[in-house]
Amino acid sequence: MKKVLKWISIILGVLILVIVVAITGLYMSVQLRADRAYTIQPANLAIPNDASAIARGKRWSAIHCQSCHGDDLAGTAFFSDPGLGSFNASNLTKGKGGVGAAYTDTDWVRAIRHGVRPNGKPVLVMPSADFYYLSDGDLSDIIAYVKSIPAVDKEWAKPNFTFIATVLAGAGAFGDLYGAETINHTAPRPIAPKPGATVEYGDYLVRVDGCRTCHGKELAGGKEPNPEAPPGPNLTPGGEIAKWSEADFINAMRTGARPSGIPMTQFMPWQSYGKMSDDELKAIWLYLKSLPAKATVKP
Ligand code: HEC
Ligand code: HEC
Repeated sequence: MKKVLKWISIILGVLILVIVVAITGLYMSVQLRADRAYTIQPANLAIPNDASAIARGKRWSAIHCQSCHGDDLAGTAFFSDPGLGSFNASNLTKGKGGVGAAYTDTDWVRAIRHGVRPNGKPVLVMPSADFYYLSDGDLSDIIAYVKSIPAVDKEWAKPNFTFIATVLAGAGAFGDLYGAETINHTAPRPIAPKPGATVEYGDYLVRVDGCRTCHGKELAGGKEPNPEAPPGPNLTPGGEIAKWSEADFINAMRTGARPSGIPMTQFMPWQSYGKMSDDELKAIWLYLKSLPAKATVKP
């Protein structure tokens, strides 16, 4: 009997040790990933400063940036949870606490397109893996606008995570932490199609808008990592929207109302996407219609 107890305690001891080592490993792996320095030589874009470029950039910024960085781009308290910690979306203006005064044109391209800060460290959570596909023209217009906005003084604390949150993040519970890790920084630039109500341009918009983050890699169903978010429905002709008309789709993206009368929740960012033009929304619709019908993937 004594022998059996001894063995049980040895086995338990080894198990606990293995678990402690695994948890410490996950914790340390996240620290290492946050501290990794990337050497990126971004494309040299000629950033315009004329009124029409700034106006185009303002519209794209409303669609792509303001939901996280705020209407004045001075940043937001992006995530805060007593058990997990907090982090903020940066102040992009030239004001106190903002990055705008110090950023060069190259710094802007590196941060948005590659998810890497001027000091080489990766940017947390920002969807640069989607912004990577932004054409030189669209990205230049966005940078032109961000450089033109009024300075706002707003200082934000550095990211601060609890031990548990860091371990969970290491285990992949919050999805891709760093866009920089998933981008092939040296691949030839993707070809950007001409704007217009075409399947090709819809493909481009679906990429840069990040629809796959929540609707899945195949757009056949997925889920964003936020545990409170409902699943993102199947957007291929195998899903509910097979019964929708183009007008239903445009209306849903502009007002959040589905033809069934069941409104979409705030987890579907239709307020941002609704700012797209008719032709842009038509292009997305044409692209979704062109996909092969897929059975719904349960996330
Ligand atoms: C899903 C939310 C989200 C979206 C959308 C987003 N960002 Fe960010 N961005 C963040 C967060 C969060 C940080 C700070 C991350 C950190 O602290 O590592 C950040 C950081 C940055 C930085 C780095 C600033 C620094 O501190 O050095 C730049 C530049 C930036 N964003 C520009 C943009 C632009 C321009 C857009 C639109 C094209 C955009 N972001 C869209 C969440 C977002
Ligand atoms: C941050 C997550 C997220 C992103 C990004 C996102 N969606 Fe959604 N979407 C959702 C969720 C969640 C729903 C489920 C509706 C709800 O909120 O109840 C939804 C619902 C929809 C619906 C309704 C489908 C149905 O069967 O009822 C359409 C259409 C749609 N999204 C299109 C898009 C398109 C197009 C994009 C990219 C331009 C996109 N979504 C990007 C989360 C997202």
